[in-house]
Amino acid sequence: MSAPSAPEHALSLMDPPIEAPRITDGYLDLLDPGEDAGRPSVAQRAMRSTVVPRIYERAWRPFLFTLWTLRTTGAEERLVRDLLRPADGDVTLDVACGPGNTTRRLRASYDGGVVVGFDYSATMLARATADTFDAGVTYVRGDAHRLPFADGSCDVVSCLGALYLVEDPFRVVDELLRVLAPGGRIAILATCDRGPAPLRALTGLAEPLSGLRTFAPDAFMSRFEADGLEDVRIEVSGVSQTVAGRRPLDDRG
Ligand SMILES: C[S@@+](CC[C@H](N)C(=O)[O-])C[C@H]1O[C@@H](n2cnc3c(N)ncnc32)[C@H](O)[C@@H]1O
Repeated sequence: MSAPSAPEHALSLMDPPIEAPRITDGYLDLLDPGEDAGRPSVAQRAMRSTVVPRIYERAWRPFLFTLWTLRTTGAEERLVRDLLRPADGDVTLDVACGPGNTTRRLRASYDGGVVVGFDYSATMLARATADTFDAGVTYVRGDAHRLPFADGSCDVVSCLGALYLVEDPFRVVDELLRVLAPGGRIAILATCDRGPAPLRALTGLAEPLSGLRTFAPDAFMSRFEADGLEDVRIEVSGVSQTVAGRRPLDDRG
């Protein structure tokens, strides 16, 4: 029997099973046409526009992410690879994958298995499928507050540069942790509430306008630890925090 294709592999991880998968622009769309989560913030509207996905990878991300993380894209890439250590055959889930930039990067570090990019924005995913030429990568459209994947189905889980945008970030974190397999590794990149008081006051004021949130330095670490993860690490840089951990092999077994 031949190995399943990446979309078939992704579908096999879903619980409950998807009876009649709907493929749009090359990705699996699990949202109803016209479905929109609440009232999108300014930042969310940008992600769902047709302009931002076009300039995101080359201009938007390198500029803005370097500004708030004080790290180059290359340095971030090395850090994330080191934290996640994807191995051949792993099932990898990249939540809030945008135009697939982080998904393709993860894929480049190992062979076999499947890499699933997951996002809410139809325009981001159309860009992702247009720019991805790798049969081991597939994309799914859905809401990270309710991931369609079975408990413990993913060996590597990432969510980079998105938790400050979503409506309920800790519900999303709970979902990321739910799908993480025993022995699996997780990494998130989010904002970090630190720096001089005037800067913090300024970012606090901008929050309601932009829809971007900042998080206490221990917010995600404590969540990971409470969930029983091991090797929980945090790297703080600029006003960013990268938090990673590993689920023990004998967990939930
Ligand atoms: C700034 S981009 C990050 C893309 C990529 N991970 C990176 O690090 O460059 C944030 C992404 O989060 C997605 N997003 C926001 N809310 C979401 C949700 N509820 N479910 C899934 N994706 C969501 C947006 O559509 C957008 O593509």
